[in-house]
Amino acid sequence: MPFSEIPQEYIISSLIHQNSFLANGKLKKWSGDTTEVFSTISSTKAYEKTLLGTVPELGEEEALEALESACDAYGRGQGLWPTMKVVDRIACMEKFVEKMITKRDEVVKLLMWEIGKNLPDSQKEFDRTVDYIYDTLEEYKKMDRDAAKFQKHGGIYAHIRRGPLGVVLCLGPYNYPLNETFTLLIPALLMGNTTIFKPAKFGVLLIAPLLEAFKESFPKGVVNVIFGRGRVLASPIMQTGRIDVLALIGNSKSAKALQKQHPGSNRLKLVLGLEAKNPGIVLPDANLDLAINECIAGTLSFNGQRCTALKILYVHEDIVDEFNKRFSVKVDELKFGNPWDDGAKLTPLPEPDKPEYIQELIDDALEKGAKILNTKGGETSENFIFPAVLHPVSKDMRVYEEEQFGPVIPVVSFKDISQPLDDIAESNYGQQVSLFGKDIKTLAPLIDTLVNLVCRVNLNSSCQRGPDVYPFTGRKDSAVSTLSVHDALRAFSIRTFIASKDNEYNNAILNELLDSKQSNFVSTDYIL
Ligand code: G3H
Repeated sequence: MPFSEIPQEYIISSLIHQNSFLANGKLKKWSGDTTEVFSTISSTKAYEKTLLGTVPELGEEEALEALESACDAYGRGQGLWPTMKVVDRIACMEKFVEKMITKRDEVVKLLMWEIGKNLPDSQKEFDRTVDYIYDTLEEYKKMDRDAAKFQKHGGIYAHIRRGPLGVVLCLGPYNYPLNETFTLLIPALLMGNTTIFKPAKFGVLLIAPLLEAFKESFPKGVVNVIFGRGRVLASPIMQTGRIDVLALIGNSKSAKALQKQHPGSNRLKLVLGLEAKNPGIVLPDANLDLAINECIAGTLSFNGQRCTALKILYVHEDIVDEFNKRFSVKVDELKFGNPWDDGAKLTPLPEPDKPEYIQELIDDALEKGAKILNTKGGETSENFIFPAVLHPVSKDMRVYEEEQFGPVIPVVSFKDISQPLDDIAESNYGQQVSLFGKDIKTLAPLIDTLVNLVCRVNLNSSCQRGPDVYPFTGRKDSAVSTLSVHDALRAFSIRTFIASKDNEYNNAILNELLDSKQSNFVSTDYIL
């Protein structure tokens, strides 16, 4: 790949040595083992990965220290944070987001270096996260206003709100190390839970600029941030049985392993966003220009490293040749470059062994009868492998079964629509599907079936999580519980209420509680 000069503002001029972690309201100095953080992007003409800095390699002791801190702050429901007035929790979050905004440039730069996301998408990830926080604040106020009332049934008054669940262990993925992690952390915090957060395997240093903001915005112990290996840190935390919610976006293997370690599985709530193999189905009457453009975005945005990416394309046999020809040309036109290069759509892969893995999938498919359709497909450099369009793909190939999470596109041709439908029904995943076609007589029964196989049917458009107000969830191994701005607040809370028989004695007490404003829970005030 041609070497491009790194713009002055993105050069790594000094290494970032993150030498502390956040526990008990303090940035605790760490002088033990550290892990070097590398980028697969080269800073020199002759390829060499770039050292970005170091992070602490914490051990079990520090993990349990962070847990203790979160448990103390929750105080088994009696802590300052879970019993605080909603307005006061909102004020803490507003303070945090204002501080976070000042770190935009630093975080965007690290997003590019650490995970190879291009500049516009890195900026979008930051801005979308800030919007998500503001939208969540508004939604929480609305939820609170809707709850600011009493109802009466069967002679009993009830004042029903949502309360926190407890201590949340929060683990996010490397492809959205800021956004997806925060879509768990922010609603969990707002609802009054306390948290322990461990950044993903890549996209770690970019959390460092935010530690001070966490420390200064929330009471001690409410947010704890630890660095190190998941197995070393998360396992002992789970084994204590003191975690109330496991919030994880990532792989089902880790989710299952962590769940198993918790001694009280009935007490553990799960908020999980897991893997998927979202299919695109292209019907014979589809507008091909539109379908091809959407399939390009769906399969290859961020090199296919999205849980919502289109990971397999089913194209009707009447149009498959035409589709393949035009689609392959478009794939080859995509520009590969470093994240800051103008117009770079394909960028270096952050996982050093990913090109090799994608090559294995290609080799396996070729051995079993598929062909690479595009000229550049499979071209490899030190940190990238150019997306190969593979056809015909069959069920015995690894690329049919495995979630590639990277740049390779399997195409299956079909004659009868029951084939993709049966395949989706048989699959372990059930997140989303893209359906390309026009005739409503064909579309109507398909939609009616597909909505029961997945949780979002995208008509003539690629799959995606956003807009964040819409439900983000999945069936089977793809998710547990639903995330959206509104649903996430529900997922991290439970309905809890005060009830009292309608009589003069109780009503006088309730009135006094309301008038005096002494209770943080019993309140009919509107937060505007
Ligand atoms: O990795 C999965 C993300 O939730 C995808 O989000 O569809 O907005 O890229 P996105």
